[in-house]
Amino acid sequence: MFDWKAYEKRMKWFQHDRFGMFIHWGIYSIPARGEWVRNTEQIPEKDYMPFFEEFDPVDFDPKAWAKAAKNAGMKYAVLTAKHHDGFCLFDSELTDYKATNTKAGRDLVREFLDAFRAEGLRVGLYYSLLDWHHPDYPHCGTIHPEKNLPGMTDEGRDFNRYLEYMHGQVRELCTNYGKIDIMWFDFSYDDMTGEKWKATELTRMVRSLQPDIILDNRLEASGSGFGSIATEHPSEYSGDFTSPEQIIPPYGIRSETGRSVPWEACITMNKNWGYAAKDKDFKSADLIIHKLVDCVSKGGNMLLNVGPDARGRIPQESLAILAQIGEWMKDNSASIYGCAAAELPKPENGRITQNGKKYYYHVMENSIGGIPLYGFHAEDVKKVRLLADGSELKYEDAWWAQNYPDILFVHISDTAELPNAIDTVVEIELKA
Ligand code: GLC
Repeated sequence: MFDWKAYEKRMKWFQHDRFGMFIHWGIYSIPARGEWVRNTEQIPEKDYMPFFEEFDPVDFDPKAWAKAAKNAGMKYAVLTAKHHDGFCLFDSELTDYKATNTKAGRDLVREFLDAFRAEGLRVGLYYSLLDWHHPDYPHCGTIHPEKNLPGMTDEGRDFNRYLEYMHGQVRELCTNYGKIDIMWFDFSYDDMTGEKWKATELTRMVRSLQPDIILDNRLEASGSGFGSIATEHPSEYSGDFTSPEQIIPPYGIRSETGRSVPWEACITMNKNWGYAAKDKDFKSADLIIHKLVDCVSKGGNMLLNVGPDARGRIPQESLAILAQIGEWMKDNSASIYGCAAAELPKPENGRITQNGKKYYYHVMENSIGGIPLYGFHAEDVKKVRLLADGSELKYEDAWWAQNYPDILFVHISDTAELPNAIDTVVEIELKA
């Protein structure tokens, strides 16, 4: 029986914090063509091993990563402890295929956790259910890099032995590294879903070792599909939030009875999760700020990805975007943290987020005359402020405004420019 009260309690911080950093890093940063490079280029194990031998992130500075995340206004971060290629960034007893056996000679997960906790951020680990390195993982399936090698067979592979390994590593991560706030599994596909992973046993183990942890939904879903957490009868391994990928759910996510389902949109800054040296197609900070606001206005979170390079550095383009986001967040984070979808329709000139009696009207489009704040009646309003500096904003009671009693026309600027061209936030407090 799903314990809705316990669920609500453990989700509180997640639905308050709203904004996190995703970090995809590993030996695939050396080929620098994305984290699926072994698969997309069907690189056999023997040709991928040189990257393991070479991996030496001399500039890895997790404290700098943590500062960049914090200064961007991020409240939590999720690092890949093991991606599909099976390379472990942590000092697992169960494999030699790990960062401590490379020239790095360091437990990168431990250093990440220590540095981000020290900056006051909550911490999560991404763990791939797939494993292209492990001999017992199906090689003839739909997505193994070696599936097309001549004579490839799954003869003699023992999937249960792989599951013992996989569960064992998750146990290590939940036992040896202190309090973990999020376990981010990835991903279910074809018949590889649910109890194929022994998901009930895995979930029970994780929750017994980390009672407050929250899980994503990919023991039974992937970036598409929501899984049973979006129903009124979640399975024991439903996870706690849905994880739409590279999309902002147009209407948010609700169950069949209209219950708002927690969700976190995971988004890349360019087109790749892992470092891709030639992918310079970075989204602007403006777009990302608009989409962060969009997420919160629809009741969701944003997990924004960075892909550090082989030397351990977050790309300069990503750092510049994070810094610009941080500038906006410095003035306007009250319209993000602790906020959710407003009990008002989406307006044509921006978005509205809400925190109790306070509404945050994100004006993203300028107007002629007073700025129309749709859905607000002057007689209900206690005060209207420009969030960035707390200054009082007068609302017009001019003759032409009288034709629109359900719109508050505020006077924000004496020029044709809005105070913040990206998103000028107006805080409206209603009378009790
Ligand atoms: C997809 C990609 C995977 C990435 C994940 C992040 O599953 O295959 O590489 O880690 O999205 O959501």
